Amino acid sequence: MAYRILVITYSQTGQTNAIAEALLQGFGSDCERKYVQIEPEKKYPFPWNGRAFFDAMPETVLEIPIALKPIDLAPGEKFDLILLGWQPWFLSVNRPILSFMRSAQGRSLLKDTPVVTFLGCRNMWVSANEKMKRYLAEAGARHVGQIAMVNHSPNLVSLITILAWMLKGVKENFMGIFPSGGIDASYYRSSPKMGEAIYKALKAGNWENLQSELLALGAMQIKPKLILMEKTGSQRFIFFAKWISAKGGEGEQSRVPRVIFFSWFLPFMIVLLTPLITLLRPLQILLKRKELRREAEYLVQLPFEKGRFHPSDKSL
Ligand SMILES: Cc1cc2nc3c(=O)[nH]c(=O)nc-3n(C[C@H](O)[C@H](O)[C@H](O)COP(=O)(O)O)c2cc1C
Repeated sequence: MAYRILVITYSQTGQTNAIAEALLQGFGSDCERKYVQIEPEKKYPFPWNGRAFFDAMPETVLEIPIALKPIDLAPGEKFDLILLGWQPWFLSVNRPILSFMRSAQGRSLLKDTPVVTFLGCRNMWVSANEKMKRYLAEAGARHVGQIAMVNHSPNLVSLITILAWMLKGVKENFMGIFPSGGIDASYYRSSPKMGEAIYKALKAGNWENLQSELLALGAMQIKPKLILMEKTGSQRFIFFAKWISAKGGEGEQSRVPRVIFFSWFLPFMIVLLTPLITLLRPLQILLKRKELRREAEYLVQLPFEKGRFHPSDKSL
């Protein structure tokens, strides 16, 4: 085989693995593929119960790793390309993937290796993706491409459909009126083309233009309102993460009242603020349009530059 590809994913519902398969359709038969599923030692539930779901927020946002099951690869094994499939949790990188990237084995695999990241989520991925870029830079990887696939339903609709999916396991046609909570079907149609672009770059040994080509295929779309929403949201999450974790660690009884408060506060604020923000947002976007345009241009590009997005969030 001419090329060795490692496909690393964490996926609770299988969506991220389905994206990986769609991307790989664009690769030639001269690629040997190896698959690794990240597995926490203590599995997260799916569907989630409400308590566990919101209780997962603080340590995710505070970037605290968890123990993982060992990965079945030989020590020091290297690949020509890593495809890394992940999802944002609470505007941060989910803990299983974060833990992999911070592990000795993860760091050794990532070091000096070209990495293409892809994610599937509801619609809020920008801050988490900046963290992903940072982790890859810290691991010494060559981040050569990034893809973000989302659900295109209006914000409140996708909030309902993602909660139905995550908390009840109902993905399609919820209550007979709500659309799918998963990524838009159109992404599965464009994925093989994105895969082809990655494969061509791999064969040429030239990653220079890959991200521009992926963008031309619709790999990342940023709306100005998303940037504004994420900045506010990530600040709130940091506050609540510190407030809840001050009472104890994940799963501890001592912090349950604060977790319950947060689990009501978050959807309530989204529902309450969405109409108000929708009214005010055009003005805010108009006033900040140059800054937002500059940020959007930077966010879809590589590499990571500390402080380019949301400097008041010290982690970015
Ligand atoms: C705990 C948790 C937090 C999530 N937070 C976000 C988020 O901040 N932004 C977002 O767009 N989607 C969020 N999602 C949705 C996921 O990113 C993703 O769509 C889902 O996990 C399906 O992918 P998978 O089955 O491959 O894991 C969250 C899901 C979970 C379980």
